[in-house]
Amino acid sequence: MTTDEFRRRATSFGGVADVYERARPGYPAEAVAWLTGDTPVRVLDLGAGTGKLTRSLVAAGHDVVAVDPSEPMLAQLRTALPAVDARVGSAERLPLEDASVDVVTAGQAYHWFDPAVALPEIARVLHPGGRLGIVWNLRDDSVGWVDELWSMFGDHEGRRADDPQVIPPFGPVEPRTFRHEQRLDRDGLLGLVESRSYVAVLPRDQRAALLVRVGELYDRVAAPDGVVLPYLTYCFRSRRG
Ligand SMILES: C[S@@+](CC[C@H](N)C(=O)[O-])C[C@H]1O[C@@H](n2cnc3c(N)ncnc32)[C@H](O)[C@@H]1O
Repeated sequence: MTTDEFRRRATSFGGVADVYERARPGYPAEAVAWLTGDTPVRVLDLGAGTGKLTRSLVAAGHDVVAVDPSEPMLAQLRTALPAVDARVGSAERLPLEDASVDVVTAGQAYHWFDPAVALPEIARVLHPGGRLGIVWNLRDDSVGWVDELWSMFGDHEGRRADDPQVIPPFGPVEPRTFRHEQRLDRDGLLGLVESRSYVAVLPRDQRAALLVRVGELYDRVAAPDGVVLPYLTYCFRSRRG
């Protein structure tokens, strides 16, 4: 991906914030517990978007501050979670005090950060001994039609998440994978595809043609109550020294 395309895709979410909120999956509670621990603490949800991970953090009892560069994504978050402190900012420049949070999470977002700048910035806002938790829901294509779906997008959808490379003061990265699934109707599956960054930046005619193919796939494989899309939820955690 060129730097220009990376920038266009990283900033594409605001244009699809409503469909993102409607169609993207949340995260399994056990994955959130593994990332953040069982005791309620102060958590920064970074790249929080519309709050898909934020709402699991709130449900687990954490005191959450949400940060994202996209105002339209945060507007969805504020509607869903009016009590959460939601701030505009980026991983490279966090609107938080030094040593002010116990855990930093990044759901489906870490790949948009510049780690050389973001990791020292994340370390700055974490208490010593605090934790960075990174999570991605990725394709589980052990089911035939699911492989067919994600294969329509070439190499844009990863099959597995590589361990994030962290630098001191972060310690070794521990990985763990969970299973997850999402039930979708036809609109939901189309929305899920529309909300991908590489689809959001396509020319209108190419996007429309892709969505027709996804709709045809849905019509071929769906049961009366929709489809169940399986995911593997890849989690990584590392302690700040
Ligand atoms: C795929 S969405 C994930 C949203 C949410 N965490 C979730 O789990 O659904 C990626 C989010 O990362 C945000 N983002 C992009 N570049 C970022 C950066 N440099 N720092 C922080 N967030 C960023 C985007 O605005 C977008 O809301």
